Amino acid sequence: MSQKPVDLLFGDLWSYAPAPESPSHVKYPKQLSHFIGGQFEPGDNFFPVINPATEEVLTECPAADAATVDRAVKAARTAYEKYWRPMPGRERAKYLHRIARMIQEKARELAILESMNGGKPIREARDVDVPLAAAHFSYYAGWADKLKYAFPGLGLDGPQPLGVAGQIIPWNFPLLMAAWKIAPALATGNTVVLKAAETTPLTCWKLAEIIQEADLPPGVVNIIHGFGATGAALVNHPDVNKIAFTGSTEVGKIIQRSIAGTKKKLTLELGGKGANIIFEDAAIDQAVEGIVNGIWFNQGHVCCAGSRLLVEESVVDQVILKLQQRMETLVVGDPLDKNTDIGAINSRAQLDTINELVQAGLDEGGIMHQSPCKLPEKGFFFRPTFFSGVTPSSRIAQEEIFGPVLAILTFRTPAEAIEKANNTPYGLSAGIWTDKGAKIFAMASALKAGVIWGNTFNKFDPTSPFGGYKESGFGREGGRHGLLPYLDLQG
Ligand code: NAI
Ligand code: MG
Repeated sequence: MSQKPVDLLFGDLWSYAPAPESPSHVKYPKQLSHFIGGQFEPGDNFFPVINPATEEVLTECPAADAATVDRAVKAARTAYEKYWRPMPGRERAKYLHRIARMIQEKARELAILESMNGGKPIREARDVDVPLAAAHFSYYAGWADKLKYAFPGLGLDGPQPLGVAGQIIPWNFPLLMAAWKIAPALATGNTVVLKAAETTPLTCWKLAEIIQEADLPPGVVNIIHGFGATGAALVNHPDVNKIAFTGSTEVGKIIQRSIAGTKKKLTLELGGKGANIIFEDAAIDQAVEGIVNGIWFNQGHVCCAGSRLLVEESVVDQVILKLQQRMETLVVGDPLDKNTDIGAINSRAQLDTINELVQAGLDEGGIMHQSPCKLPEKGFFFRPTFFSGVTPSSRIAQEEIFGPVLAILTFRTPAEAIEKANNTPYGLSAGIWTDKGAKIFAMASALKAGVIWGNTFNKFDPTSPFGGYKESGFGREGGRHGLLPYLDLQG
């Protein structure tokens, strides 16, 4: 393309007046606690909880040892036998609806906590994480008394719960992942021990408070904190019937190995390297917005991120030009500011991973494009970045970066796009941008990805099943499918 790049002036000339959300009314203790058997208990082995945008210590969090995990599992077992299993579905539904309503009532507080602790822009926490978390509880409340209808033909009793579910979640969507895990488990009559992620315990602690206030029978939901060792103790506890894990493929494999040969059921939602495919007949400006949303939503800490962009060769120069200009308009900074598009990287460790992979991208000959935006002096920040001239076998095209870094590849035919898109050990998400509906359907049926978006990206809904192929894991969360991992259909 011969069009000369237009020099658009951004940066300070066009900056907005600051519009920070005040955290003044948000309260949390100096030390968090585990929530076991309906009570908060002090715990020990405290570690600091950091605000990644300021590097300040927000609070301290206890790490549960094996004995604490055991007490949580016992509380869940007792609650299962005594309260939850005998309770009719329509009664369980009332509790789920109550949790949903209370999340809505405390939406602002939850959004601020999520943003302060995780680094994500308040706009995303407010408009995505919190409302979707409430929606998951409402949606699964609706299924609680309809399980026989959801899975008919299983006799008078219908499908049965499994028992105690051990659930381990990551730090990229802490409250939302807790909702994805807890809501279907409770709707199907299981009780729960959930381990929050070590860098982001705050909204899980708050959810425990909501659950206590919602007056759930003690032990139906237990929320504990800690590192990988706590998660491993939960996975290996002999009285857990089901494990649900979201996190790295590396840990997913460890979990799968460690429960092999047991009767524990397992769902794994692991990493991804989603292909976002732009055809020349796509509405390019809309596609650019989709690329932005695909890779820069939540700083790219998204398992289904559109982190590999596949562009039809005839429009690649145009797409790169528009993307560079759009990228420079993104506001990077204080996550609590309502103007912020890209907040802080969740932890120093994750920032190190991103830096390492970006260096590998440069070493392998990729061309780096970065926004020249100013970064805050403190905190863990990374500029929105994309690489062109990337070869399909390079590390940045193959490995999950889990940061605001996009790798651009090109293709000439739909067949080549399919081959390149599927050339990854992962298979979580994909996006297709074209004017032709038929092309979307043809591509979607050839792509090995659990979630495929047409002319949009990163859209979530509790009614829609979500999950992976290959090393992205197995089992589905959301929708009627999301009930299955928590049910025994043998009768
Ligand atoms: P991770 O998989 O180590 O952590 C996720 C959760 O698993 C945390 O709650 C952690 O405490 C727990 N955990 C760690 N080791 C465990 C074990 N042996 N047994 C049971 N539970 C264990 O992920 P990490 O180290 O935070 O991030 C590493 C990479 O993983 C990221 O760079 C990203 O590529 C990927 N990741 C993918 C996520 C996804 O949504 N699919 C979420 C988080 C990370
Ligand atoms: Mg890890």
